Amino acid sequence: MALHFIGAISGTSVDGLDLALIDVDPVVPRIIDATTEPIPGPLGDSLRALALPATGDVNLMARADAELGELIGQAARAFAGDRPVRAIGSHGQTIRHDPRAKPAHTMQIGDPHRIAEISGIDTVADFRRRDVAAGGEGAPLVPPFHEALFKPPKGERVVVNVGGISNITILSPDLLTGFDTGPGNALMDAWIREHQGLAFDRNGAWSATGRVNPDLLTDLEQDGFVRAPPPKSTGKDFYNLDYLRMRLKGSEDPADVQATLTEFTAASISWAIERWAPSSADIVVCGGGRLNDDLMHRLGRRMGSRRVMKTESLGVDGDAVEAAAFAWLAYRFLERLPGNSPTVTGAAGPRVLGAFYPANRQIR
Ligand SMILES: Nc1ncnc2c1ncn2[C@@H]1O[C@H](COP(=O)(O)OP(=O)(O)OP(=O)(O)O)[C@@H](O)[C@H]1O
Ligand SMILES: [Mg+2]
Repeated sequence: MALHFIGAISGTSVDGLDLALIDVDPVVPRIIDATTEPIPGPLGDSLRALALPATGDVNLMARADAELGELIGQAARAFAGDRPVRAIGSHGQTIRHDPRAKPAHTMQIGDPHRIAEISGIDTVADFRRRDVAAGGEGAPLVPPFHEALFKPPKGERVVVNVGGISNITILSPDLLTGFDTGPGNALMDAWIREHQGLAFDRNGAWSATGRVNPDLLTDLEQDGFVRAPPPKSTGKDFYNLDYLRMRLKGSEDPADVQATLTEFTAASISWAIERWAPSSADIVVCGGGRLNDDLMHRLGRRMGSRRVMKTESLGVDGDAVEAAAFAWLAYRFLERLPGNSPTVTGAAGPRVLGAFYPANRQIR
C-alpha cells in the first residue's frame, strides 16, 4: 500500500513555503507532487528580521511562530486534498543556528500544534535540536535523503543544494559526508534587495553585468567558515548584510559587488568539492540557485571537466528536494529510525529526530 508523507519547509531565503508529497513505499522514496505557497509580506518581513542576531523581539517571535504554523497547517491541508497522508514533516523557519556557541543551539519556529490542529494530520517537527543535543551540527539533515534519491550505482557523486545557504552531499561508495559550504543565495538576495528592492537577481542578470572585485573576493574567502574543515553548518545569522558591509570600502560599484558575491558563492562550493570530493565527476544541483544562470555558469567554469547538471536531468524537481527530505524524515521518525548521519553532523551517534504532534482523530 502506498505510504504518503508531506514535507514542508520555508527555507532560509523566505521566498516561499515549499511542500512536497512523497511515497516511501516500497523502498526508494519518490516525489509525487510539489507546490510552493507564497509567504504573506508582513510575515516574510518578520521571519527575515528574526533571523538576524540583532533582533531579540520575543513578541515578534511568538506571533510569527503562530502565524507560520497556521500558514503551514492550511497549506498542508489544501495540498493533501483527498489524498491519505500518514504524517507531515515540518521543518519550520530557522531563526537561530549556532552549533559553535556555548551552549550550541538551533531554533526553528512554525507552531506544529497548529499544523496538526488545522490539517488534521499527525505532524512531526523540530528535527534539528536532537542532533545538536547529541553534539552535532544539527545540519545538514538532507544528505541521507540525497543518498536515498541520488546515490549512483558506482563511483562518487556530489549533490549541491543552493538555497539561502549552500550545502553539499558527497555520495561515495562507502561513506556519506556533507556540510554547508557557505552562502547560497543569501548574500546575493540581501544585496539586490538593498539596492534594487528586488527579492532576488533573476537568472543572475544583474550579476552578469558586473565585474568581480578581486580584493573583495579575497576578503570574503578569508571569512573563517568557507575554508574550515567539516563538520560545519551556518545560517543567515552569519551570512547577512552586516557580514558584507564589514568587508566593503563603500566605493565599490553595486553591480560589481553582486558579481563578486555570485562568484564567491560559486567559488566556495567549488573549493569544497575540490578539497573534499576530488574524484567526483558528477555534480548535481538542486535548490533555487540552480535557476541563476550566471551562478551556474561560474560554477561550471570552476568545475572544469566535471559534469554539472540540475536534478531535473535525473528526473527530480530541484525545488522539491528539501521539502521532500522532511517528509522522509517524518517517515523515519514514525518508524523510529535515525534521521541524522553522524558522519555528516558530527553527532555522538545516530538519533531519531523530531517530536510528535498528534492530529485530533475526531476531525478526520
Ligand atoms: N530564476 C531565478 N534566478 C535566480 N535565482 C533564483 C531564481 N529562482 C529562485 N532563485 C533563488 O533561489 C532562492 C530560493 O531557493 P530555495 O527555495 O532553494 O532556498 P531556501 O528557501 O533558502 O531553502 P533552504 O535554505 O532550506 O535550502 C531565491 O531566494 C533566489 O535567490
Ligand atoms: Mg525556499
